[in-house]
Amino acid sequence: MCGIVGYIGHRKADKLILDGLKSLEYRGYDSSGAAFIESGSSKIFKQIGKVDGLENIMSKQKINSGLGIGHTRWATHGSPSMVNAHPHSNEDQSIIVVHNGIIENHLELKYELESKGYIFKSETDTEVIPFLIDYYFNQDLSFENSFKAALKDLKGAYAIAAISTLNPEIILAAKLSSPLVIGVGKNEHFLASDPSALSGYTKKVIYLQDLDVAKITKTKVTINNLGHNHRVKPKIELIDYDNEKAQLGSFDHFMIKEIFESPATINNAILGRVLANKGIIKLGGLESVSEQLKYIERIVIVACGSSFYAGLVGEYLIEELAGIPVEVQLASEFKYREEPFSRSTALLAISQSGETADTIAALKKVSDYGILRLGIVNSIGSTIARMTDAGVYCHAGPEQAVASTKAFIAQVTVLTLIALYLSNGQTKLYRPILKELDSLPEKAQTILNQTDEIKKVAEKYKGYKDFLYIGRHFSYPVALEGALKLKEVSYIHAEGYAAGEMKHGPLAMIDKEFPTFALASNSLTLEKTYSNIEEIRARQGKIIAVSTIGNKKILKLANDVIYIPDTLEQLQPVLQSIVIQLFSYYMAVAKGFNVDRPRNLAKSVTVE
Ligand code: G6P
Repeated sequence: MCGIVGYIGHRKADKLILDGLKSLEYRGYDSSGAAFIESGSSKIFKQIGKVDGLENIMSKQKINSGLGIGHTRWATHGSPSMVNAHPHSNEDQSIIVVHNGIIENHLELKYELESKGYIFKSETDTEVIPFLIDYYFNQDLSFENSFKAALKDLKGAYAIAAISTLNPEIILAAKLSSPLVIGVGKNEHFLASDPSALSGYTKKVIYLQDLDVAKITKTKVTINNLGHNHRVKPKIELIDYDNEKAQLGSFDHFMIKEIFESPATINNAILGRVLANKGIIKLGGLESVSEQLKYIERIVIVACGSSFYAGLVGEYLIEELAGIPVEVQLASEFKYREEPFSRSTALLAISQSGETADTIAALKKVSDYGILRLGIVNSIGSTIARMTDAGVYCHAGPEQAVASTKAFIAQVTVLTLIALYLSNGQTKLYRPILKELDSLPEKAQTILNQTDEIKKVAEKYKGYKDFLYIGRHFSYPVALEGALKLKEVSYIHAEGYAAGEMKHGPLAMIDKEFPTFALASNSLTLEKTYSNIEEIRARQGKIIAVSTIGNKKILKLANDVIYIPDTLEQLQPVLQSIVIQLFSYYMAVAKGFNVDRPRNLAKSVTVE
């Protein structure tokens, strides 16, 4: 979603800002903009569409500034347009602001400001901010104090950067529920809503906390906390970026590149954590809470999107292997639920980005309950990684395509490790799964070697408008994720169902125009899934089956079969996921869609 970058220092701010904006492009956006202070006056640039377009209009003007802010906007209030794009400013463009989040009381503030003579141009909630600062400035407050006064009027969530011709030596920054990080350099400072935008410039960062207000000059960062009303000592932390910025290499899209990283992803998730021959699982991130974990009697998993479906796989794994009851909840619903919590419950947040607003809100909700808060996060140093008491990183490296693929694989792999870890070796599957995990990357590669066949199947079905995905037990969450993946990138209506539910509704939809993707690998439930396939065939429904190599019977039942290598039932979701991801990818390509940036979607959903 929206992204913020800022720079103050000795380098050319325009290049820094454009670089930063480009590294935030993967989050999804529909317009971008930048502003610079140069010789006491401001320059503002905006463009709809790609950052390349912004770069193009900026290149037509000479910019010689060491102070700038930039923004990628994903429309929430008001359509993607030049006037709604950030930065927003006051009338004479002396106060300029970029903002992520939502100002919930913006209408009230707008009416009040209008009554004072302010004329709004945009439909955004953001425009109230520069006007409020302007208003307080005209009450004889300094730029900094006007900024603080304006913040006190705001309700909702924000990460804000403001610059001004009235004080051309500083960037002011503030955050509440939206991430913002300051990068520390030598005689220069950077600002970003996502630390990945700082990769390549500095590893030293200061994470702003809620209600922190930072005054940033070339050489100094001063932080005050509005909530506690006192000066905060900036805490510089070292960030270890997973990788250098991801490059496409020889791939056409990030999505296929990331699917092809599956074997390495599984490897990285288990690397140094699994000693199969010794029967040991070592999860360094959980060591500090290992004693507490012994007393956990219930786990509530909270997550959104694909991470939620990974959580559903985790539910089955943890219950079956560790014997601990698990409940998976959508983070966006968890917030409203009034459920009793005992101290023996642990909350486990799963998030690729570590910045999903609803998941953060879920963690905040339980912050006073005194319960253990765990995380499975991919993005190192992200808000969720820092908010939780302990956790396990996915180590999948940056995921650029909006639709999650390798991160989902990593999450499921990590959940398998956590389930085994919590089992304390008490399940008879402990050793077999540990052993099998070692061969999983190679098996994943076997699936990738059949990409051409999967592509052919996708092309064959590209004309269909609806799809059903079915699976039982461990394959059920994969069916849900399969339907989500298809919707996200190919805009085809798809529904995921537990195969056992077919007769309770979905069967009514089946005819020759409504194909089904059946997850039918070797398992205890396979015979029952065969019955569902028969029911669908009897109604002329077409079947694409994912089955285990060597299964000949399925050839008689399904119109098309994609085989995966044999593995333990508990590990099948990892292999099946690669198939559903490839199928969705090739479907989107066949339909000519922008695979990496599906319409209306954002990579990191930072508003509730
Ligand atoms: C967005 C992304 C999905 C992701 C979901 C949850 O919808 O497009 O790919 O699964 O957010 O994000 P998280 O970063 O918390 O896993």
